[in-house]
Amino acid sequence: VTIIMDGSGRWARKQGQQRLFGHNEGVESVRACTEYAAQAGVKYLSIFAFSEENWGRPEAEISTLMQLMKKSINEEADSLMKHGVRFVVLGNRSRLSDELNGAIDGLMEATAGNTALTLIVFLSYSGKWDILQAAQKLAHDLIEDPTRTVSQDDFSGYLVTAGVPDPDVLIRN
Ligand code: IPE
Ligand code: MG
Repeated sequence: VTIIMDGSGRWARKQGQQRLFGHNEGVESVRACTEYAAQAGVKYLSIFAFSEENWGRPEAEISTLMQLMKKSINEEADSLMKHGVRFVVLGNRSRLSDELNGAIDGLMEATAGNTALTLIVFLSYSGKWDILQAAQKLAHDLIEDPTRTVSQDDFSGYLVTAGVPDPDVLIRN
């Protein structure tokens, strides 16, 4: 199951609140979806939380979102362990702060052995970025072995989503 998070700011405005209120509520929704998915036997839950394009937002909102991300990672660790959730972040992590990357690495390592559900959070991700980094790795390998042919499956292996099954359900909310 894949969820594209959207409309949090508009939802908050409708309640007469700031956009941050909507982002905080978004964390609650992700927690609820994760716990439900783990209990329902879903094996992969992917959340598109922050895209490469989102770096174009006002700096204040970006820094709020990054702080919220770091806080959530620290606060949700126990719950993820309790529900057997393996936490994975995919995206252009070179754009994230060292502090956030450290928190992400810590939680990914702590939950690496969990098998009930894999929760993938796409952070600073875009399809074009993924294709580009895959093409760069492929180009490197082709220099080593220019005669090799590349199938679609081979190419999938270069994407950061390698090994993740294609989704059966996509929800944009
Ligand atoms: C989704 O809600 C959360 C993020 C992308 C961080 P939005 O922030 O896109 O909220 P709207 O779409 O502007 O209402
Ligand atoms: Mg939006």
